[in-house]
Amino acid sequence: MKNAFLILLLGSVVSALAGPAAAQVTSGSPGDKKLSPKQEEAAELKACVQHLAGGFLKVPDTRELRFQGKVTTQTARCRGGQQAVEFQFTPWVDWARYWGAGDSSSLPVGFLSVKGPQLRGIAGALTDLEYQRMELIKFNLFDNSGTYQTYLSGRGGVGGAALKTWPEMRLPKDSPDYDAVGGDGEQLCKGDLIRARTLNGICNDIRNPRMGSTGMPFMRNVEFETTFPDLEQTTLTKNRHGGRINLLTPDPQLISRKLFTRPQSSPAACNSGFGLPNNSVDANCDYEKAPFFNVLAAYWIQFMTHDWFSHMDDGHNAPGPMMDVGCKSKLVNNVPTPLTPDEIQKLGCRPNDAVDKTYVLNDSPPEQFSVSGHTYLSRAPKTYANNNTAWWDASQLYGYDETSVKRVKRDPQDSAKMLLESIPPFAGGYLPVLQPSDPAQPQWRGQESVAFPDNWSIGLSFYHNLFAREHNSFVDEFRGQAAQNPTADSGLRNPSVPSHVIRNQEVTPDELFNAARLVIAAEIAKIHTIEWTTQLLYDEPLYKGMNANWNGLLGAGDPEVSQALSDLVVHNFGKSEDVKKATQWYSAFASGPGIIGLGSNVDHYEITNSNDVNGGVNHFGAPFNFPEEFVTVYRLHPLVPDLIEYRDAGKDPNKIVEKVAVIQTFENKATDAMRSRGIANWGLSLGRQRLGLLTLHNHPQFLQNIRLPRLDSPTGQIDIAALDLVRDREHGVPRFNEFRRQYGLKQLTSYDDFVDQTLPADSAARKQQMETIAQLREIYGTHVCDSAKVITDAQLNPDGTPINDCLGHPNGSVVDNIEDVDTVVGWLAEYTRPHGFAISETQFVVFILNASRRLYSDRFFTSSFRPEFYTNLGVDWVNHNGPGPEMMETGTPNGHRQPVAPLKRVLMRNIPELTPELQHVINAFDPWGRDRGQYYSLEWKPRPDATSDSAFKP
Ligand code: HEM
Repeated sequence: MKNAFLILLLGSVVSALAGPAAAQVTSGSPGDKKLSPKQEEAAELKACVQHLAGGFLKVPDTRELRFQGKVTTQTARCRGGQQAVEFQFTPWVDWARYWGAGDSSSLPVGFLSVKGPQLRGIAGALTDLEYQRMELIKFNLFDNSGTYQTYLSGRGGVGGAALKTWPEMRLPKDSPDYDAVGGDGEQLCKGDLIRARTLNGICNDIRNPRMGSTGMPFMRNVEFETTFPDLEQTTLTKNRHGGRINLLTPDPQLISRKLFTRPQSSPAACNSGFGLPNNSVDANCDYEKAPFFNVLAAYWIQFMTHDWFSHMDDGHNAPGPMMDVGCKSKLVNNVPTPLTPDEIQKLGCRPNDAVDKTYVLNDSPPEQFSVSGHTYLSRAPKTYANNNTAWWDASQLYGYDETSVKRVKRDPQDSAKMLLESIPPFAGGYLPVLQPSDPAQPQWRGQESVAFPDNWSIGLSFYHNLFAREHNSFVDEFRGQAAQNPTADSGLRNPSVPSHVIRNQEVTPDELFNAARLVIAAEIAKIHTIEWTTQLLYDEPLYKGMNANWNGLLGAGDPEVSQALSDLVVHNFGKSEDVKKATQWYSAFASGPGIIGLGSNVDHYEITNSNDVNGGVNHFGAPFNFPEEFVTVYRLHPLVPDLIEYRDAGKDPNKIVEKVAVIQTFENKATDAMRSRGIANWGLSLGRQRLGLLTLHNHPQFLQNIRLPRLDSPTGQIDIAALDLVRDREHGVPRFNEFRRQYGLKQLTSYDDFVDQTLPADSAARKQQMETIAQLREIYGTHVCDSAKVITDAQLNPDGTPINDCLGHPNGSVVDNIEDVDTVVGWLAEYTRPHGFAISETQFVVFILNASRRLYSDRFFTSSFRPEFYTNLGVDWVNHNGPGPEMMETGTPNGHRQPVAPLKRVLMRNIPELTPELQHVINAFDPWGRDRGQYYSLEWKPRPDATSDSAFKP
């Protein structure tokens, strides 16, 4: 069955690469009449035959021919029946309505066999997703560090996308490791520089030492010419926005107060997000909740972003004058007009707020170059540094530069361990607090001492403490095994003395610390990939897709096939100088064996052989870093509630005993809260509570009114929701509609396109959406369109003509300023989403590309995922989610026999007080009191022993 599935999937993807020309997409129509089950069966089978006869979509040669998530009507019918055809006319992707891609109502009943259509549906969805990934790899990589010209023109006869090294990724002369990697000559990392993750991230790719290291520029996923649209530097951007947008227009605070504020049924009980005295349970801040995702998941992603990227440098932005952040104007008859004091008061915004500017790395005019008659920018008009390592290396825990590492405290009794203190009466260790001698910004004083201390919250305190404990658990287990078996081979090797077997008793504290860091980083990446993301995107295609990314489609089920595919991927496609093989074929086939460990299973692996050590990575022609667009889609502030429903793990877990304002757990108050109440109580509280849906009108009130000590402004306050918009504009992120076109998604032609067409016309939800559409129109406005103005070259109209200012509406008609909608506003307004998606499809497509690349590019997840670096115990620990053999979950959640998930294991191991509660939990990010019900149910229903939990009261 598994093999049939894989063959079906890979077969269709391979055809995409080699097959005949693309079948033209034809849309269904809303008026298709309802068929009887028998007619439906016949129509579907016919459609499948036509779909196969029509050949498969080809990855196109040019960007304007991308498939945009839309298949032919026959394909849609074959994979999803009439329901898939019915909504093909919307801008949203088709796979969401294939058989089996939703909850149990998406499973076929009453005709055909259940398995056949379901297999077609899920394999079809995965095929669409792989097409998207191949297209994204081909069309969305724009490196800002100087390599873009060679990406387009190639070097020495090798196509740019198949290049594997770049001079721009060499260490500069002032690097202390310059000589060690080869100085002026060919640079190659070796010796101690390749044994573990380095502090500033150099030498992950041993042939491109500088890649992903601290301070390298953020890349882009969109054409450079489309960045900084408000500068209107091209005719297209001029035509697209018509002089209507700039840093403060439309007004960010107006947008925040009108479109982001959470409405409150009882404002007094919420008290602007500050709750009531003594953490009274009578406090209440309404928010829209996601029934299948908990607050632990919200803080998890903040914890992750602190590993991946930061525009700020050690908690501060650029020195110099502060800038305004709005609360100044609104549109009146499409003309920006000052807000009156009365309007300001009603809105609740603050015109005297100000904020520091982002550090700019390079704002000199970018050079231009020509390839095949086209002129291109060599980088974006401005670039910004990622002041973190871009690698998934747990740098928020272990450090990313000389300052941050000074806050990482090691245990003087055993320097392989993190320093943890005991805090009676609680069990287990807690991170120490920053000392006066530690480097820290004033606002961090009193917090736990960690590498990345900014915007500290109770959730961050939770995860930092948890993974410091997990680090020590690994060290303890290693020490225990070493005591029992001191002369056994640890697995570690030193490239300077490669033939020497390092026995358990010889492993130094530093070697063990570094191996533990590798293990923790890989464990975190695994949790994120197969536990967090499968709950964020709670449906079967994504369960399969994410597990395929990690373990391969075959999982552990068929090691020979998996190995054969791995060899094919790494040794054939990975080494190829043929662009198509090195990129698209590689991506498609890697879903067979999985990305983790790609290239690590070679015969006679030699730690001194650079091909063995580095052979599994693939950057697809562009050095790895995160794009600015990735930061945009991680502006997930609505996830956070205003109040935490606090519970006591030692008493009745069903009882909410206090409502603690999140702002009361900010900065050093988080540390006090952790140390006075204990990690188990916070785990239970955050695990039981639902997080906020990513939608409009759902930002936490406290974040709109937060006070930040670093702000030298009349108010000292800032609206983070408004700031999210200001920062994106500062960083030159294209506005929503062009953003979608750039990522190969269908454009919108008016604000009305946001409305979820699957909802009944008279439903309350649809009416509410229509009200929001009216607000969008009021804020962003309308204009009389001019069809002579072409606005993009990323896509064409279905008839092949250029897309113009009228977006298909008659010339001279009044059209929505849909082109001006900020990207964050746009993705929050996406009411139409695939089943179980806590994020929108626009955000998702950004993840497809960058989440895969973050694994593909990192040798410690691919060819260096080996005992020589991790120890034997380390590799097993990552594969089995802890010491000993893999533990299997009882039952078959959503039809899968699966191991006990990795975060669940980490929690039970390090906070054993939570074990009784977790026994009922399958995925640690699903609200712990919820009954998961049948196939991907989103129902908010208590499990049998949680019926008294007031969170389930209507
Ligand atoms: C207690 C909760 C939180 C607080 C107090 C908070 C506060 C902040 C602040 C003050 C900034 C810096 C703004 C600037 O000057 O540019 C920021 C940025 C950001 N926050 Fe949050 N945040 C919280 C939760 C979250 C969560 C749950 C996420 C989810 C991923 C998140 C994602 C981001 C991102 C992506 C940025 C931009 C970072 C960058 O530009 O490098 N935050 N937040």
